[in-house]
Amino acid sequence: MPRMRSPARVNLIGEHTDYNDGYVMPVATDLEMMCHFKRRNDRTVKVSSKELGNTTFKIGDDRREGSWSDYLKGVALYLSERYDLGGWEGSIDSSIPIGSGLSSSAALEVLSAKIFQHVSSFEITPIELAKICKRAENEFVGVRCGIMDQFIITLGKKGSAIFLDCRSLDYEYVPIPEEMGLLVVDTGGRRELAKSEYEKRRRECEEASKILKKSLRDADKSEVLELPNPLNKRALHVVQENKRVLAARKALIENDLESFGDLLLQSHNSLKDLYEVSSEELDRAVELAKKAGALGARMTGAGFGGCAIAVVDRDSIAKVKRIEEEFKVYECKSVDGASLDR
Ligand code: GLA
Repeated sequence: MPRMRSPARVNLIGEHTDYNDGYVMPVATDLEMMCHFKRRNDRTVKVSSKELGNTTFKIGDDRREGSWSDYLKGVALYLSERYDLGGWEGSIDSSIPIGSGLSSSAALEVLSAKIFQHVSSFEITPIELAKICKRAENEFVGVRCGIMDQFIITLGKKGSAIFLDCRSLDYEYVPIPEEMGLLVVDTGGRRELAKSEYEKRRRECEEASKILKKSLRDADKSEVLELPNPLNKRALHVVQENKRVLAARKALIENDLESFGDLLLQSHNSLKDLYEVSSEELDRAVELAKKAGALGARMTGAGFGGCAIAVVDRDSIAKVKRIEEEFKVYECKSVDGASLDR
Protein backbone atom coordinates (compact mmCIF):
# COMPACT_ATOMS: atom_id res chain seq x y z
CA MET A 1 0.00 0.00 0.00
CA PRO A 2 1.45 3.45 -0.87
CA ARG A 3 2.15 5.89 1.95
CA MET A 4 1.88 9.68 1.74
CA ARG A 5 3.72 11.79 4.30
CA SER A 6 3.04 15.41 5.14
CA PRO A 7 5.19 17.53 7.46
CA ALA A 8 4.40 20.11 10.14
CA ARG A 9 5.69 23.60 9.53
CA VAL A 10 7.81 25.69 11.81
CA ASN A 11 8.21 29.32 10.90
CA LEU A 12 11.73 30.57 11.59
CA ILE A 13 10.78 34.22 11.17
CA GLY A 14 8.19 36.42 9.44
CA GLU A 15 5.11 36.16 11.64
CA HIS A 16 1.77 37.70 10.70
CA THR A 17 3.37 39.02 7.55
CA ASP A 18 1.99 36.53 5.00
CA TYR A 19 -1.49 38.08 4.81
CA ASN A 20 0.14 41.51 4.54
CA ASP A 21 1.93 40.71 1.25
CA GLY A 22 5.17 40.32 3.22
CA TYR A 23 8.06 37.89 3.66
CA VAL A 24 8.23 34.64 5.63
CA MET A 25 10.90 32.00 6.21
CA PRO A 26 9.41 28.65 7.29
CA VAL A 27 10.76 25.08 7.25
CA ALA A 28 9.04 21.70 6.88
CA THR A 29 9.91 19.46 9.83
CA ASP A 30 10.16 15.77 10.56
CA LEU A 31 7.15 15.97 12.87
CA GLU A 32 4.72 14.59 10.32
CA MET A 33 1.56 12.80 9.29
CA MET A 34 1.72 9.50 7.47
CA CYS A 35 -1.17 7.97 5.57
CA HIS A 36 -1.36 4.44 4.13
CA PHE A 37 -4.00 4.63 1.43
CA LYS A 38 -5.67 2.84 -1.46
CA ARG A 39 -7.99 3.94 -4.21
CA ARG A 40 -11.74 3.31 -4.00
CA ASN A 41 -14.02 3.26 -6.99
CA ASP A 42 -17.09 4.83 -5.40
CA ARG A 43 -16.04 8.52 -5.02
CA THR A 44 -16.00 8.04 -1.26
CA VAL A 45 -13.25 9.08 1.15
CA LYS A 46 -12.89 7.03 4.30
CA VAL A 47 -10.17 7.86 6.82
CA SER A 48 -9.35 6.47 10.21
CA SER A 49 -6.81 7.85 12.63
CA LYS A 50 -5.86 7.11 16.20
CA GLU A 51 -5.06 10.77 16.82
CA LEU A 52 -7.95 12.36 14.92
CA GLY A 53 -10.85 9.90 14.80
CA ASN A 54 -12.74 8.56 11.78
CA THR A 55 -14.56 10.13 8.86
CA THR A 56 -16.39 9.03 5.72
CA PHE A 57 -17.79 11.37 3.05
CA LYS A 58 -18.61 11.56 -0.64
CA ILE A 59 -16.51 13.80 -2.87
CA GLY A 60 -18.49 17.00 -3.46
CA ASP A 61 -20.28 16.84 -0.08
CA ASP A 62 -20.30 20.48 1.03
CA ARG A 63 -21.80 20.15 4.50
CA ARG A 64 -19.47 21.42 7.24
CA GLU A 65 -19.07 19.19 10.26
CA GLY A 66 -17.02 21.56 12.39
CA SER A 67 -14.31 18.92 12.74
CA TRP A 68 -10.97 18.00 11.14
CA SER A 69 -12.77 16.24 8.29
CA ASP A 70 -13.75 19.68 6.93
CA TYR A 71 -10.13 20.17 5.81
CA LEU A 72 -10.44 17.05 3.65
CA LYS A 73 -13.94 17.87 2.45
CA GLY A 74 -12.93 21.37 1.39
CA VAL A 75 -9.90 20.12 -0.53
CA ALA A 76 -12.05 17.45 -2.25
CA LEU A 77 -14.72 19.99 -3.14
CA TYR A 78 -12.40 22.54 -4.73
CA LEU A 79 -10.23 19.97 -6.51
CA SER A 80 -13.38 18.34 -7.91
CA GLU A 81 -14.32 21.63 -9.59
CA ARG A 82 -11.32 21.10 -11.86
CA TYR A 83 -10.50 17.39 -11.89
CA ASP A 84 -12.27 14.08 -12.05
CA LEU A 85 -11.43 12.74 -8.59
CA GLY A 86 -11.16 9.15 -7.44
CA GLY A 87 -12.07 8.17 -3.87
CA TRP A 88 -9.66 6.56 -1.41
CA GLU A 89 -9.44 5.09 2.01
CA GLY A 90 -6.57 5.38 4.39
CA SER A 91 -5.30 5.47 7.93
CA ILE A 92 -3.38 8.44 9.27
CA ASP A 93 -0.73 8.39 11.98
CA SER A 94 0.52 11.72 13.22
CA SER A 95 3.51 12.72 15.29
CA ILE A 96 2.49 16.38 14.96
CA PRO A 97 1.12 17.62 18.26
CA ILE A 98 -2.42 18.47 17.12
CA GLY A 99 -3.66 22.02 17.68
CA SER A 100 -0.31 23.24 18.96
CA GLY A 101 0.30 25.82 16.24
CA LEU A 102 2.48 23.68 13.96
CA SER A 103 -0.17 23.70 11.27
CA SER A 104 -1.53 20.20 11.51
CA SER A 105 -4.51 21.58 9.57
CA ALA A 106 -2.43 22.57 6.53
CA ALA A 107 -0.55 19.24 6.81
CA LEU A 108 -3.90 17.44 6.51
CA GLU A 109 -5.03 19.58 3.58
CA VAL A 110 -1.85 19.01 1.60
CA LEU A 111 -1.76 15.32 2.56
CA SER A 112 -5.26 14.77 1.17
CA ALA A 113 -4.66 16.89 -1.94
CA LYS A 114 -1.56 14.84 -2.78
CA ILE A 115 -3.47 11.57 -2.24
CA PHE A 116 -6.26 12.78 -4.55
CA GLN A 117 -3.62 13.66 -7.11
CA HIS A 118 -2.06 10.23 -6.80
CA VAL A 119 -5.27 8.20 -7.07
CA SER A 120 -6.75 10.42 -9.81
CA SER A 121 -3.56 11.09 -11.86
CA PHE A 122 -4.05 14.76 -12.70
CA GLU A 123 -1.37 17.37 -13.34
CA ILE A 124 -1.14 20.35 -10.99
CA THR A 125 1.77 22.62 -10.09
CA PRO A 126 2.81 22.62 -6.42
CA ILE A 127 1.87 26.30 -6.09
CA GLU A 128 -1.61 25.66 -7.49
CA LEU A 129 -2.01 22.75 -5.09
CA ALA A 130 -0.98 24.96 -2.15
CA LYS A 131 -3.49 27.61 -3.28
CA ILE A 132 -6.36 25.11 -3.40
CA CYS A 133 -5.50 23.94 0.12
CA LYS A 134 -5.47 27.54 1.31
CA ARG A 135 -8.85 28.09 -0.34
CA ALA A 136 -10.22 25.04 1.53
CA GLU A 137 -9.10 26.61 4.81
CA ASN A 138 -10.28 30.14 3.93
CA GLU A 139 -13.62 29.40 2.30
CA PHE A 140 -14.67 25.97 3.55
CA VAL A 141 -13.30 25.86 7.09
CA GLY A 142 -13.64 29.63 7.44
CA VAL A 143 -10.19 30.57 8.74
CA ARG A 144 -8.67 33.47 6.78
CA CYS A 145 -5.06 32.25 7.00
CA GLY A 146 -2.33 33.38 4.61
CA ILE A 147 -0.41 31.13 2.18
CA MET A 148 2.65 30.35 4.34
CA ASP A 149 1.62 26.99 5.84
CA GLN A 150 0.26 25.34 2.70
CA PHE A 151 3.22 26.67 0.69
CA ILE A 152 5.98 25.27 2.91
CA ILE A 153 4.18 21.96 3.45
CA THR A 154 3.95 21.53 -0.32
CA LEU A 155 7.29 22.98 -1.39
CA GLY A 156 9.63 22.40 1.56
CA LYS A 157 13.08 21.01 0.85
CA LYS A 158 15.29 18.88 3.05
CA GLY A 159 18.07 20.85 4.71
CA SER A 160 16.61 24.24 3.75
CA ALA A 161 14.20 26.93 4.83
CA ILE A 162 12.09 28.71 2.21
CA PHE A 163 12.36 32.46 1.86
CA LEU A 164 8.97 33.39 0.38
CA ASP A 165 7.63 36.66 -0.93
CA CYS A 166 3.93 36.23 -0.18
CA ARG A 167 2.93 38.88 -2.72
CA SER A 168 4.62 37.50 -5.83
CA LEU A 169 5.02 33.93 -4.50
CA ASP A 170 8.64 34.08 -5.67
CA TYR A 171 10.70 31.90 -3.40
CA GLU A 172 14.21 30.78 -2.71
CA TYR A 173 15.64 27.83 -0.77
CA VAL A 174 17.99 29.00 1.97
CA PRO A 175 20.24 26.18 3.24
CA ILE A 176 20.26 25.74 7.00
CA PRO A 177 23.85 25.78 8.28
CA GLU A 178 25.13 22.39 9.48
CA GLU A 179 25.89 23.69 12.94
CA MET A 180 22.41 25.08 13.53
CA GLY A 181 20.08 22.93 15.65
CA LEU A 182 16.35 23.60 15.77
CA LEU A 183 14.23 22.85 18.82
CA VAL A 184 10.46 23.05 18.95
CA VAL A 185 9.13 23.75 22.42
CA ASP A 186 5.51 22.79 22.96
CA THR A 187 4.16 24.88 25.82
CA GLY A 188 0.95 22.86 25.87
CA GLY A 189 -0.81 26.23 26.14
CA ARG A 190 -4.38 26.13 24.90
CA ARG A 191 -5.17 28.14 21.81
CA GLU A 192 -8.84 28.99 22.24
CA LEU A 193 -8.30 32.63 21.39
CA ALA A 194 -6.26 31.87 18.30
CA LYS A 195 -9.13 31.93 15.82
CA SER A 196 -10.95 35.04 17.01
CA GLU A 197 -7.82 37.07 17.80
CA TYR A 198 -6.21 36.05 14.49
CA GLU A 199 -9.24 37.40 12.65
CA LYS A 200 -9.11 40.56 14.76
CA ARG A 201 -5.43 41.17 13.86
CA ARG A 202 -6.22 40.61 10.19
CA ARG A 203 -8.99 43.20 10.34
CA GLU A 204 -6.72 45.68 12.13
CA CYS A 205 -4.11 45.28 9.40
CA GLU A 206 -6.77 45.73 6.71
CA GLU A 207 -7.95 48.91 8.43
CA ALA A 208 -4.39 50.24 8.73
CA SER A 209 -3.71 49.53 5.11
CA LYS A 210 -6.99 51.20 4.06
CA ILE A 211 -6.06 54.39 5.96
CA LEU A 212 -2.56 54.39 4.44
CA LYS A 213 -3.96 53.50 1.01
CA LYS A 214 -1.24 50.91 0.58
CA SER A 215 -0.31 47.42 1.61
CA LEU A 216 1.62 47.26 4.90
CA ARG A 217 4.39 45.65 2.87
CA ASP A 218 4.93 49.05 1.23
CA ALA A 219 4.52 51.22 4.33
CA ASP A 220 7.37 52.72 6.33
CA LYS A 221 7.91 53.37 10.00
CA SER A 222 7.18 57.11 10.02
CA GLU A 223 3.80 56.75 8.37
CA VAL A 224 2.59 53.82 10.49
CA LEU A 225 3.43 55.72 13.67
CA GLU A 226 0.76 58.27 12.68
CA LEU A 227 -1.99 55.65 12.79
CA PRO A 228 -4.39 55.48 15.76
CA ASN A 229 -3.70 52.98 18.55
CA PRO A 230 -3.58 49.93 18.25
CA LEU A 231 -3.25 50.05 14.44
CA ASN A 232 0.09 51.85 14.83
CA LYS A 233 1.51 48.98 16.91
CA ARG A 234 0.20 46.24 14.62
CA ALA A 235 1.48 47.95 11.49
CA LEU A 236 4.85 48.76 13.06
CA HIS A 237 5.31 45.06 13.85
CA VAL A 238 4.61 44.13 10.22
CA VAL A 239 6.93 46.80 8.78
CA GLN A 240 9.81 45.83 11.07
CA GLU A 241 9.19 42.08 10.85
CA ASN A 242 9.55 42.22 7.06
CA LYS A 243 12.93 43.91 7.52
CA ARG A 244 13.94 41.24 10.00
CA VAL A 245 13.09 38.45 7.55
CA LEU A 246 15.36 40.05 4.94
CA ALA A 247 18.14 40.39 7.52
CA ALA A 248 17.60 36.81 8.74
CA ARG A 249 17.87 35.46 5.19
CA LYS A 250 21.20 37.25 4.85
CA ALA A 251 22.43 36.02 8.24
CA LEU A 252 21.63 32.39 7.36
CA ILE A 253 23.36 32.67 4.00
CA GLU A 254 26.41 34.17 5.71
CA ASN A 255 26.30 31.54 8.44
CA ASP A 256 25.98 34.27 11.04
CA LEU A 257 23.96 32.42 13.66
CA GLU A 258 24.53 35.05 16.34
CA SER A 259 22.74 37.71 14.31
CA PHE A 260 20.11 35.19 13.24
CA GLY A 261 19.37 34.36 16.89
CA ASP A 262 19.16 38.05 17.76
CA LEU A 263 16.59 38.66 15.04
CA LEU A 264 14.47 35.81 16.42
CA LEU A 265 14.46 37.43 19.85
CA GLN A 266 13.55 40.82 18.38
CA SER A 267 10.72 39.16 16.49
CA HIS A 268 9.41 37.57 19.67
CA ASN A 269 9.47 40.85 21.57
CA SER A 270 7.61 42.58 18.80
CA LEU A 271 4.95 39.84 18.70
CA LYS A 272 4.63 40.18 22.44
CA ASP A 273 4.58 43.97 22.80
CA LEU A 274 3.34 45.33 19.48
CA TYR A 275 1.27 42.58 17.90
CA GLU A 276 0.17 41.23 21.30
CA VAL A 277 -0.21 37.57 20.28
CA SER A 278 2.18 35.88 22.72
CA SER A 279 1.26 34.18 26.00
CA GLU A 280 2.85 33.80 29.41
CA GLU A 281 3.98 30.25 28.59
CA LEU A 282 5.48 31.30 25.28
CA ASP A 283 7.38 34.15 26.93
CA ARG A 284 8.59 31.74 29.59
CA ALA A 285 9.73 29.19 26.98
CA VAL A 286 11.69 31.87 25.13
CA GLU A 287 13.27 33.17 28.31
CA LEU A 288 14.24 29.68 29.50
CA ALA A 289 15.70 28.71 26.12
CA LYS A 290 17.77 31.88 26.04
CA LYS A 291 19.02 31.34 29.60
CA ALA A 292 19.92 27.74 28.79
CA GLY A 293 22.18 28.94 25.97
CA ALA A 294 20.01 29.16 22.82
CA LEU A 295 21.21 31.65 20.21
CA GLY A 296 17.65 32.83 19.80
CA ALA A 297 14.07 31.80 20.42
CA ARG A 298 10.59 33.00 19.59
CA MET A 299 6.98 31.95 19.42
CA THR A 300 6.11 30.40 16.06
CA GLY A 301 2.81 30.46 14.14
CA ALA A 302 -0.27 32.48 15.01
CA GLY A 303 0.43 32.61 18.78
CA PHE A 304 -1.92 32.61 21.80
CA GLY A 305 -0.29 29.46 23.16
CA GLY A 306 1.19 26.64 21.15
CA CYS A 307 4.85 26.30 20.27
CA ALA A 308 8.05 28.30 20.41
CA ILE A 309 11.27 27.52 18.58
CA ALA A 310 14.83 27.78 19.80
CA VAL A 311 17.83 27.99 17.52
CA VAL A 312 20.96 26.51 19.04
CA ASP A 313 24.51 25.75 18.20
CA ARG A 314 24.63 21.96 17.64
CA ASP A 315 27.14 21.60 20.48
CA SER A 316 24.77 23.15 23.00
CA ILE A 317 21.67 21.14 22.11
CA ALA A 318 21.91 18.89 25.17
CA LYS A 319 22.32 21.91 27.44
CA VAL A 320 19.35 23.79 25.99
CA LYS A 321 17.22 20.65 26.07
CA ARG A 322 17.24 21.03 29.84
CA ILE A 323 14.12 23.14 29.42
CA GLU A 324 12.45 19.74 29.03
CA GLU A 325 11.98 19.89 32.77
CA GLU A 326 9.22 22.38 32.08
CA PHE A 327 8.09 21.88 28.48
CA LYS A 328 7.95 19.16 25.86
CA VAL A 329 10.87 19.66 23.45
CA TYR A 330 11.37 18.18 19.98
CA GLU A 331 14.65 18.33 18.15
CA CYS A 332 13.66 18.83 14.51
CA LYS A 333 15.22 18.38 11.11
CA SER A 334 14.18 20.21 8.00
CA VAL A 335 12.61 17.77 5.49
CA ASP A 336 10.97 17.71 2.06
CA GLY A 337 7.37 18.84 1.58
CA ALA A 338 4.56 16.29 1.37
CA SER A 339 5.44 13.36 -0.84
CA LEU A 340 5.06 9.63 -1.36
CA ASP A 341 7.16 7.73 1.13
CA ARG A 342 9.25 5.25 -0.81
C1 GLA B 1 -1.12 30.92 11.02
C2 GLA B 1 -1.62 31.11 9.59
C3 GLA B 1 -0.49 31.58 8.67
C4 GLA B 1 0.21 32.81 9.26
C5 GLA B 1 0.59 32.57 10.73
C6 GLA B 1 1.14 33.81 11.38
O1 GLA B 1 -0.22 29.86 11.07
O2 GLA B 1 -2.14 29.88 9.09
O3 GLA B 1 -1.00 31.85 7.38
O4 GLA B 1 -0.57 33.96 9.12
O5 GLA B 1 -0.51 32.12 11.49
O6 GLA B 1 2.35 34.18 10.80
